[in-house]
Amino acid sequence: MPFDIARTRAAYPALTEGFVHLDGAGGTQTAAGVIDAVTDAMRTAVGNRSAANVPGRRSLELVAEARSAVADLLGADPAGVVLGPSATALIYTLARTLGATWRPGDEVVLSRLDHDANVRPWVQAAEAAGATVRWAEVDRHTGELPAAQYADLVGERTRLVAVTAGSNAIGTMPDVPAIAKIAHAVGALVCVDGVHSVPHGPTT
Ligand SMILES: Cc1ncc(COP(=O)(O)O)c(C=O)c1O
Repeated sequence: MPFDIARTRAAYPALTEGFVHLDGAGGTQTAAGVIDAVTDAMRTAVGNRSAANVPGRRSLELVAEARSAVADLLGADPAGVVLGPSATALIYTLARTLGATWRPGDEVVLSRLDHDANVRPWVQAAEAAGATVRWAEVDRHTGELPAAQYADLVGERTRLVAVTAGSNAIGTMPDVPAIAKIAHAVGALVCVDGVHSVPHGPTT
């Protein structure tokens, strides 16, 4: 089935302004369905999540629906979906939590391709724990992040590998399954930044 450009374009009211948005990292326009859902939620009484009253129950339902929608998009379990103010804030929370289990001499592997959101939280958590940061480099001729280098970067002390599934700056899509395989072989966790890749294809 051909991609229905007109229908997709019509779903974004801001596009009627006529700008051509070529800078993907420069900001995201909002679909009408999202605008309507946010507006509807604000036009009804909502309270802190609680089963004790109607506004509280409404909030519980809204959050449950949102988690299901995200899980549907990702092919994931709603129970594994965590909502938060931003990717950066969520990764900071994750980094602080995981970093508390790291010891001096542990290692984390980060990439030069990644957005700062998937770099700085890990650098700071590593500094706090006395862990070492190792860097995966971008091939400057191809713009790729070669997965093979991870065989040298990952070792017995690696606790975490953080890598983007899609660069917001140059569009590179690293071979995440290959990188994850190397990390998982030594028992390391993998934090994949899907902010820029998820809208472009299935998440598997
Ligand atoms: C690839 C990528 N990761 C992370 C982020 C940070 O997202 P947030 O603004 O939700 O913290 C961005 C924002 O542009 C991004 O493009």
